[in-house]
Amino acid sequence: MTTTTTPVVRGLPVVGNAVAMAKDPAQFFVDCYREHGPVFRVRVLGREHPVIAGPEAAEFLGTKEGRDCLRSKEFWSGLVEEYGATRTLPGEDGASHKELRDIMRRGYSREAIADRLDEVVAITDRNLDRTWTPGATVPVLRSMQELVTDQLGELLTGASRPEYVADIRRATMYILNVLVTRQRPRIVLRDPRYRRAKARVAELADKMIEDRKRPGGRPAVLIDDLLRAHRERPSAMPASDLAISVTGPYVAGLDTVANTIASFVYAVLKHPEVLARVQAEADELFARETLTEKDLRSLPAIRGALMETMRLYPIAVVQMRTATRDFTFQGHRISAGENLYVGTSVPHFLDEFFPDPMRFDIDRYEKPRAEHMQAGAYSPYGRGQHVCLGKTLADVQMMVTMARMFHRLDLRLDPPGYVLARKTTPTPGPALSFRVKVAGFRH
Ligand code: HEM
Repeated sequence: MTTTTTPVVRGLPVVGNAVAMAKDPAQFFVDCYREHGPVFRVRVLGREHPVIAGPEAAEFLGTKEGRDCLRSKEFWSGLVEEYGATRTLPGEDGASHKELRDIMRRGYSREAIADRLDEVVAITDRNLDRTWTPGATVPVLRSMQELVTDQLGELLTGASRPEYVADIRRATMYILNVLVTRQRPRIVLRDPRYRRAKARVAELADKMIEDRKRPGGRPAVLIDDLLRAHRERPSAMPASDLAISVTGPYVAGLDTVANTIASFVYAVLKHPEVLARVQAEADELFARETLTEKDLRSLPAIRGALMETMRLYPIAVVQMRTATRDFTFQGHRISAGENLYVGTSVPHFLDEFFPDPMRFDIDRYEKPRAEHMQAGAYSPYGRGQHVCLGKTLADVQMMVTMARMFHRLDLRLDPPGYVLARKTTPTPGPALSFRVKVAGFRH
């Protein structure tokens, strides 16, 4: 088969494209796609990496060929080593991945949250009551990180442990920065603050496991399933893998959800007409005595705002993979062993799929428009075998949390014309400096 010469994106000497990528990753990949098409090469600190991007690349992840040609192992091996484990769900492929995913499926499913919506509300309230007081100007991302840690702790691990929140947050940020996205050098892991946080999270994992062995206690499907697998099939869930598995919800869910809901707060406050619709829906929702999952199905404004937030502020701009064998994509050759980026978020910003793409338009998702339903167009939770296992849980968690927040609080951007400051490490999202003003309680 004839193959095409793959264009190399122009960059700076030595650093290559690293600076442009770090500045605004979503825009960088869109610009490259527009200029070079669905396959190009980028240079990052002396190394060249192929990028496949756009709707076909997103779809490719879900095909048999995609599964055969790409693996995830290399990108998670640092985490596995650092924690002395043998494997972790996102870093496995094929049968080994399926085995782990089957063990964890129930724990990460909607079942883990569906009957506990009133608890999600109560946890949200106790976090809001602590810092979101009238007159306060609150750092949104930090506050959302604490709230999400509290929610995930309670819902997935059986108990929230406020005394560990700072350690979980710190260890997770180091893991994401150094071991997963590799935006910081390994030497950073010698930082005594990380070593302390890591030791505390290990202690927490031990406590979580010990607590589950005692009778009674709160439901924690994930941990119960992990411990059952460990008892019944220790080769599938050896003792060495328990700590990384029981604290997995934090690595997967803390930063992803915190950044997304912090972006949601900004986007909604920036669009008063959306704010009014979100508030009206939220007020109607909480006029009910108790919440059920069914109630969440009829929240078009809140769902639309969430989907629009995940389109325009994606936390996973690309998925990182290694080529398992030589293969050709759209006429371009990719060689075995190359580390590549799959630009699944590129179509989010293309007007062929989302007309007037930079407009925050929460009505795109309802039929007949349903713009996200076009093949390969919308992938905030990734694609293919590694598609986010917690996506339904995350949707529910984020919708309830945002509904509650906008029901209870009258929030303002500060100053009113504020334009979001953004950061890209470890995850793209609002900068820690993003603050909003609590003008008062609505309810
Ligand atoms: C805004 C919220 C979230 C977003 C946008 C998101 C996005 C993603 C993406 C893009 C992947 C695939 C990564 C890849 O293919 O390399 C992924 C995987 C995963 N996510 Fe999420 N995630 C979110 C929240 C959560 C939450 C709350 C949980 C659970 C607590 C969770 C659990 C997982 C797990 C376990 C995987 C690994 C799946 C596998 O490898 O088979 N995620 N997520």
